[in-house]
Amino acid sequence: MARLSLGDLDRARRRKELLDSLAAIDRKYLVMSGKGGVGKSTLAVNLAAALAGSGARVGLLDIDLHGPSVALALGIDQPLTTGDDDKLIPVQVTERLKAVSIQGLLKSRDEAVIWRGPRKIRAIRQFFSEVLWGPLDYLFIDSPPGTGDEPLTALQLIPDLRPLMVTSGSRLAIGDVAKAFNFLKLMNRPAFGLVDNQSWYVCPQCGRRTEIHDCRAAAALAEAQGTPLLGSLPLDLAAARAADERRPLVLSRPEHPFSLLIRDLAAKLG
Ligand SMILES: Nc1ncnc2c1ncn2[C@@H]1O[C@H](COP(=O)(O)OP(=O)(O)O)[C@@H](O)[C@H]1O
Ligand SMILES: [Mg+2]
Repeated sequence: MARLSLGDLDRARRRKELLDSLAAIDRKYLVMSGKGGVGKSTLAVNLAAALAGSGARVGLLDIDLHGPSVALALGIDQPLTTGDDDKLIPVQVTERLKAVSIQGLLKSRDEAVIWRGPRKIRAIRQFFSEVLWGPLDYLFIDSPPGTGDEPLTALQLIPDLRPLMVTSGSRLAIGDVAKAFNFLKLMNRPAFGLVDNQSWYVCPQCGRRTEIHDCRAAAALAEAQGTPLLGSLPLDLAAARAADERRPLVLSRPEHPFSLLIRDLAAKLG
């Protein structure tokens, strides 16, 4: 019979700790994209806030170690604290929305994280196994652009993680997002769906709608990748300003057309 080494036992213990910590979380979404600036963080915070507003218990975890946005977008300034067993206590944003961001471990808002692969992977693993979330209906994980250590580690460690891909209709985005779909194929993890953001613009003066990019590009990408196009969102002035005001539009203006579209999208997440 093969003998287990101490290393094997340690790995098995860590794996069990991770799975135990995730067991009380029902649905887990990885908000990802091959491209930066397409609206992953905007979508993550607004979807999380929308679901929390409809009565679900929601967690939001920022694993964009080099460019964390969740704390900024939610107006979180306080550092993270620890509780039982030195585990991290998420920041309570609203009654049912909790968030954890690497930003909460940094000394200042502008401090840079200069970590390479192994250290990043360790930090992300800790975020998955050492946060006192309590029971959650949804966890959203906001990731950096591309297919590097962060989304890779997330997908490897969380077996039931659902990738939610974000794009804009720009050719530059579509090409990179197609690569991110290929990354998912290589990992044998189909995307849950695609969201087309910054798709059109309605002029606040004359009400005229303008398509910003080829309006069929995202639909064509979804079809080519065999994934549903879950929704299209406009480039919206109020949504952009809400980020600067550090409060998701879904919370500050729940009846705004952008917030209604976010809620439609949230309803499709099952
Ligand atoms: N639909 C939208 N309408 C207006 N501004 C948006 C929209 N989506 C994102 N933005 C803005 O674009 C910038 C990049 O969005 P962000 O969510 O940080 O992208 P990512 O996380 O993909 O890098 C931010 O300033 C954000 O406020
Ligand atoms: Mg982001």
